[in-house]
Amino acid sequence: MKNTVATFAKMKENGEKISMLTCYDYSTAKLEEAAGINAILVGDSLGNVMLGLPDTLSVTMEDMITFGRAVSRGCHDTMVVIDMPFMSYQVSIEQAVMNAGRLMKEGRGNAVKLEGGASVCPQIKAITSAGIPVMAHLGMTPQSVNALGGNRVQGKSEAAAKQMIEDALAVQEAGAFSVVLECVPAKLAELITKKLTIPTIGIGGGAGCDGQILVYQDMLGLFSDYTPKFVKHFAELGSQMQAAFKKYDEEVKASTFPDEAHSFKIDDEVLERLY
Ligand code: KIV
Ligand code: NA
Repeated sequence: MKNTVATFAKMKENGEKISMLTCYDYSTAKLEEAAGINAILVGDSLGNVMLGLPDTLSVTMEDMITFGRAVSRGCHDTMVVIDMPFMSYQVSIEQAVMNAGRLMKEGRGNAVKLEGGASVCPQIKAITSAGIPVMAHLGMTPQSVNALGGNRVQGKSEAAAKQMIEDALAVQEAGAFSVVLECVPAKLAELITKKLTIPTIGIGGGAGCDGQILVYQDMLGLFSDYTPKFVKHFAELGSQMQAAFKKYDEEVKASTFPDEAHSFKIDDEVLERLY
């Protein structure tokens, strides 16, 4: 059955945990769906893990649409949320609605995600009014890395924690159907989760959140540039892939690949006449 915003609301009501992973391509989307993941985020983290950029700031609408479309084609039951890239929603409400619309029309997403609290509530209101579900994102918001002064845990002081609670209530009031809490102390994320009627999705937000999300390259051990504290490796596919590449290299150089089973035949009679 198709996972929708109604599924999210119902799962919170029933106390069922929501599983999310990021995804950026068709083949992986099919695997995540087959595993029963509730929702996929086509995150602007694709700037880091797919494009090799140092942060998410240079990711474009076109990037999000290209990867979003690829993922959507692989999903039937999984809800697809597409990130709004840096500067696609900050400038004006009008631009925000237009760009959210493009992610739905061209990217074929089921919802969009944007970063920020009270300051982006007018955008959240306008986008949801256009019939587009919005997931909010608080705590460590990577598009503000330059303002935050690096990737670090957020909401540790009383003032910052109060601000985050207010922002969470504000995005809920503005119409967000869910909110990501990134790099937030577990007890604070748990408190926010209790105060909200919409589900919280944690990434470095502890077990008290209503759901969890991880970048799939991180959880498969495919990305080694840096490893945040909240990342758990559920497999070591990076070393498995490297071993397979090495084996291939050796077999090519030893002429043991391809063998007959992986080659095509021509009739001997035809071949003879060619000599
Ligand atoms: O872009 C992304 O992958 C994200 C998640 C980490 C929440 O925003
Ligand atoms: Na993101």
